[in-house]
Amino acid sequence: MKATAKAHTNIALIKYWGKRDESLILPMNSSLSLTLNAFYTETTVTFKPDLSEDKFFLDNELIVGDQFTKVSKFLDLIRNYADVPDLFAEVHSTNAVPTAAGFASSASGFAALAAAASRALDLKLDESTLSRLTRQGSGSACRSVYGGFVEWEKGTQDDGSDSYAVPVAPQDHWDVRVAAVVLSSVMKKVSSREGMKRTVETSPFYSAWVDNIPTDLTQIKEAIQDRDFERMGEIAEANCQKMHATTLAANPPFTYWHDTTLTVMQTVQGLREKGIPAYFTIDAGPNVKVLYQPENEEVVQQTLREIPGVTNVILSRSGQGVTYK
Ligand code: PMV
Repeated sequence: MKATAKAHTNIALIKYWGKRDESLILPMNSSLSLTLNAFYTETTVTFKPDLSEDKFFLDNELIVGDQFTKVSKFLDLIRNYADVPDLFAEVHSTNAVPTAAGFASSASGFAALAAAASRALDLKLDESTLSRLTRQGSGSACRSVYGGFVEWEKGTQDDGSDSYAVPVAPQDHWDVRVAAVVLSSVMKKVSSREGMKRTVETSPFYSAWVDNIPTDLTQIKEAIQDRDFERMGEIAEANCQKMHATTLAANPPFTYWHDTTLTVMQTVQGLREKGIPAYFTIDAGPNVKVLYQPENEEVVQQTLREIPGVTNVILSRSGQGVTYK
């Protein structure tokens, strides 16, 4: 009744942006990511018959409020799946996200929780089923079940039975590096949930976003198979800009970008003008991730660290999928 699992976070190269079902977390579009080795969550779940409710500890601190509710609601799914609705659990998680990185840990968090909880109940889930369950904790988390390059197939069924991640290329397929650029600026945050909802409901650019996805996905998968770094980077960077363009046309309009975000984007384009292939991508926040090749690590890192307003640059490689202890 006890199990420990570890999962890494992932960075989307083709973004998931917009839900067609809010409660089941079904996306409007398929997406594709790279699992990252630098950021992970390790979680131990122990189901205890004497507990009358769940308990959640994050980095040794007892968590209450919204964060606890999300974990407990997610455990309800696993309990229902296992047909033990009244069996509660103690959950201990540690986040190995470098200090003050300012990155959301929901992807690694829910993937580790789903894996540990299902293992603790001896459910013996295959990876598709694990990904499908994980999706209902946080959408992007369903991709963290696998290492390397991963696609989340949006599926077409109303019940979500065909919406889960599939592996595209394993961790050792290709040594692509990612620099996570942390900015000092604090912005009023529009959550990814709220941002997606507003964009789907009001942005006239949203339908163009959805229409473009199949081409972006086909092309980036070819580039990944061919290990064509420049092609992959161009597609990923353009996809990121398309996603963020939808937010500017929403009502009310919003953007996740800060002035330093733009400076980092321009610096990355400047690196390319000097013949160093590097490409950016940005999620629902001001921080930037930069894709580069191993031979350019020094120059990319150095250039990014020198930008005023950048507080940290964390280097990552391709990471592995869910593992158990
Ligand atoms: O899964 P969520 O709710 O954290 O949403 C993730 C949305 C993006 O990070 C912007 C894109 C993605 O595919 O990860």
